Amino acid sequence: MKTIFVKDYDEMSKKGYEFIKEVIQTKEEPVISMTTGGTPRGIFKLFVEDINNGLDIRDTTIMNLDEYIGPKEAVYTVRTFMYENLYNKIHVQPKNIFLIDGSTNNPAKEIARYKAILDQHPRDIQILGLGTNGHIGANEPGTPFDSTMFLAKHEESTIQSTMKEYGITREEVPTEMLTLGFTEIFEAEKVILLVSGKHKAKAVKALLEGEITPDCPATALRNCDNSIVIVDEDAASLLE
Ligand code: F6R
Repeated sequence: MKTIFVKDYDEMSKKGYEFIKEVIQTKEEPVISMTTGGTPRGIFKLFVEDINNGLDIRDTTIMNLDEYIGPKEAVYTVRTFMYENLYNKIHVQPKNIFLIDGSTNNPAKEIARYKAILDQHPRDIQILGLGTNGHIGANEPGTPFDSTMFLAKHEESTIQSTMKEYGITREEVPTEMLTLGFTEIFEAEKVILLVSGKHKAKAVKALLEGEITPDCPATALRNCDNSIVIVDEDAASLLE
């Protein structure tokens, strides 16, 4: 694992986006797996700007690493996020858009469907954000490092973050997510974890200075040569 220290959120976004752009410009049929939430909003802005200025994504496949259980059109879904922050803002669409269906009443079937897509589309890059409890995707603390795509239950801190991020109430907030496991996450050629803000400083300390353990899921990145963590000054503020 390599760590890149940057000044602030904007620099983190620029650095993270450089890796995506490089994949698009160098691979014949690029496959990018994105994350959603507060962390990648800056990356999506840069991506939209570039696409609308001519960056060619007609051979690119874009997919996501997780999806909340709930109606497709809900404000918090990964699908809604991807359309609002990317697909509705660009004039040319990617070759393939793959999304997990969180409205399913048969999660096992949906997992099998999406896993077949994953098998056919090895990822060049997987973008990740970091939970305040150290989660990646919806692999919450305690998830074994050999997890494969599964239906995850959120911890209380994750539920609170979702309420805040999407301005929704306790009654509205989803508590479960279909998520790639560590296994599928680390199949990507490059795994990029982006972290910004003081509220992530404790998780960053556990990630970079603590023991490698499922209690801090992101520490799995330390076992992985192809992983890069991009951390801003606020997020790094508790490091020794
Ligand atoms: C979202 C996801 C989550 C977030 C994490 C950080 O698709 O997979 O693991 O990346 O909860 O969320 P933000 O970026 O909102 O702080």
